[in-house]
Amino acid sequence: MFQLINKTMYLYILGLVASRFVYRWYKESKRVTNKKEKYVYITGCDSGFGNLLARHLDELGFNVIAACYTEKGEDELKKITSDRLATVHLDVADSESVEQTAAHIKTLVGQKGLWAVVNNAGVALPSGPTDWLTIDDYKDMIAVNLCGVIDVTLSVLPLVKKAKGRVVNVASVFGRVSPFGGPYCVSKFGVESFNDSLRLNMAPFGIKVACIEPGFFKTNVTDTVAMKNNLAMLWNRLPQEVKDGYGHDFLNASIEMLEHRFNMLTDGNLMKVVGCMEHAVSAVYPRTRYSAGWDAKFFWLPASYMPTCILDRLFRRNSPNMKPELSAL
Ligand SMILES: NC(=O)c1ccc[n+]([C@@H]2O[C@H](COP(=O)([O-])OP(=O)(O)OC[C@H]3O[C@@H](n4cnc5c(N)ncnc54)[C@H](OP(=O)(O)O)[C@@H]3O)[C@@H](O)[C@H]2O)c1
Repeated sequence: MFQLINKTMYLYILGLVASRFVYRWYKESKRVTNKKEKYVYITGCDSGFGNLLARHLDELGFNVIAACYTEKGEDELKKITSDRLATVHLDVADSESVEQTAAHIKTLVGQKGLWAVVNNAGVALPSGPTDWLTIDDYKDMIAVNLCGVIDVTLSVLPLVKKAKGRVVNVASVFGRVSPFGGPYCVSKFGVESFNDSLRLNMAPFGIKVACIEPGFFKTNVTDTVAMKNNLAMLWNRLPQEVKDGYGHDFLNASIEMLEHRFNMLTDGNLMKVVGCMEHAVSAVYPRTRYSAGWDAKFFWLPASYMPTCILDRLFRRNSPNMKPELSAL
């Protein structure tokens, strides 16, 4: 008798879970209409996710305003996209450039307003152990990855309000955990915080705010040659005393580990991230957060909920960066 009740209960729970998933899938599959009337402004379109998103949204029929850092990026994108796509030059770390771009966008969108802004532009170097870096290293990256996101958002927020549109912020799994030193994690934690307060503050105006948190993907940001050169550059400028503390072999061990990890972990399918960005822009019911990539979903996200003592042990055990010659641990 008890066995029969247990079985029925399990089936009932299974049915509830399954119908919840089906309902979520159905709800999330709905897309907005009138794409040709909607303008989407994307930063950092020269390469990587931004470039692919610009092409993808252009193919779907949106009016894409692709902001590129270089002229070459603009020219190459124009060659392979429709006449609808407009390019602009933008340095997100330069307020004058941000303001000029916003003024240009205002004339482009007119009374329709701006449907979405995607804050994608970002840099990841220099990165390394915290005491290898200077305050200027921090300021320079924060200027792009965090202040750039805030500046660009504020510059077009009145236009987004007009369209009751969206703000999509590209953070990272390193906006949740900080397994290495330097300004990258600091800047991405900042993006997460800005994203969350903006979401709350803009909800009454009908603006939706979504955060994309990718894991490791093969782009310029994870280019191992650039990373190795960056580590060597940081090491070479260190005072001898600091080098002695880390030990003679530390740089080579770090470079070896970096190459091994990145070759093993980076995913070449950028559509996993771009698909999330596209959903955030075009779904009727976008999510507030998107974990893009298997490593993000099954390692970094769960890791971010672990107690600090366990997480620290895990990171220390898996990184030679944490074992200098003069280690007290
Ligand atoms: N790849 C990953 O594994 C990963 C993981 C998590 C988060 N992300 C984030 O995803 C975003 C896109 O990066 P990505 O991986 O696609 O790398 P990417 O190919 O290097 O894209 C970054 C883009 O930002 C542009 N950019 C750099 N500095 C700029 C500035 N001051 N003003 C305007 N644009 C600037 C770059 O232009 P140039 O190419 O001309 O320099 C490039 O087009 C970044 O925010 C990054 O932090 C990436």
